[in-house]
Amino acid sequence: MNVQQPGLGIALTGSGSATPLAALDNEKLSQLVETSDEWIASRTGIRQRRLATPTETVTTIATQAAQGAIAMAGISPMDLDLIILATSTADDLFGSANQIQRDLGAQKAVAFDLTAACSGFVFGLVTAAQFIRTGVYQNILLIGADVLSRWVDWSDRRTCILFGDGAGAVVLQANEHDRLLGFELRSDGTQNQCLNLSYQPQPQELLDGITIGQGGFQPITMNGQEVYRFAVRRVPEVIEKALFRANLTVEDVDWLLLHQANQRILDAVGDRLNIPPEKIISNLAKYGNTSAASIPLALDEEIRQGNIKAGDTIVTSGFGAGLTWGAAIFQWGR
Ligand code: COA
Repeated sequence: MNVQQPGLGIALTGSGSATPLAALDNEKLSQLVETSDEWIASRTGIRQRRLATPTETVTTIATQAAQGAIAMAGISPMDLDLIILATSTADDLFGSANQIQRDLGAQKAVAFDLTAACSGFVFGLVTAAQFIRTGVYQNILLIGADVLSRWVDWSDRRTCILFGDGAGAVVLQANEHDRLLGFELRSDGTQNQCLNLSYQPQPQELLDGITIGQGGFQPITMNGQEVYRFAVRRVPEVIEKALFRANLTVEDVDWLLLHQANQRILDAVGDRLNIPPEKIISNLAKYGNTSAASIPLALDEEIRQGNIKAGDTIVTSGFGAGLTWGAAIFQWGR
């Protein structure tokens, strides 16, 4: 009998996405903080964002996105070997991936969360690829999902204008041809203070001589200008490195798919790399910055609209808190 080997290459074979129904546009947001549509749109490109209601959780929107990706890949949840949920806003600090595994009915899959803020999807893509390249797993579901609206200070106009909620997912499958062409990942903890969603412990004396720190997470804090400078400098660098590893040049790139943080960052990175605007994917006017969800959400929209086609070469880059950043170059489809 001729048994076909699945191969140690990686193919991205399905995508899906989900966003909460409720939309908050800049006009309405200006009833909450002193700002305007003109200020927000001209500095960020964002016009509205979707916000999750109390019953829409990371698990529910991630599961919905995952179902779309699994259907497009033409597999069943029972075929999944691994589920990686890239998120910084899990419903449960112990992890939300297992709730998604339960809700999908993917009993055979092992599931875990991966936290790398807005770089989570790219870090997850590279992590998933290692399991396929080593021959351990054949079918992997990677989801990027965040509900940052829970963690934003809605009285801070410097940050609350930027973020929205959403989820996106892809299915990666073992394939004869390897469609992940190159990647490069980076971290710089010395700049950690630029962007935080941190725990603030309050001393609580349990017993004489035993004091623990029991507090809570503080809303997002950000040094916007530092983060902007970091992104515009580091993202082109890491993309060039990934292109070099893939033995490609910018002329080979069909699409530039950056983490959707800010239109000015997208434009500046495109300029530096000499990639024309028509190749730069942008949906942040509709959704704002959805953190780990932004890349797979935009990817799924472009695929479903028929813009991204099988065989297209996509350069993707995530960047954000940590600080973390990274780039991956892949071809869509088998
Ligand atoms: N509406 C109106 N005015 C605002 C405002 C808002 N939403 N937010 C800030 N301002 C004001 C400030 O108070 C400041 O006023 P002042 O000069 O009187 O003090 C002025 O606008 C300039 O503020 P500044 O913070 O210097 O603005 P900026 O030009 O750096 O733009 C960002 C702010 C956030 C749009 C910009 O720094 C940015 O995009 N950074 C990257 C952030 C990002 O993408 N983070 C996520 C990465 S994953």
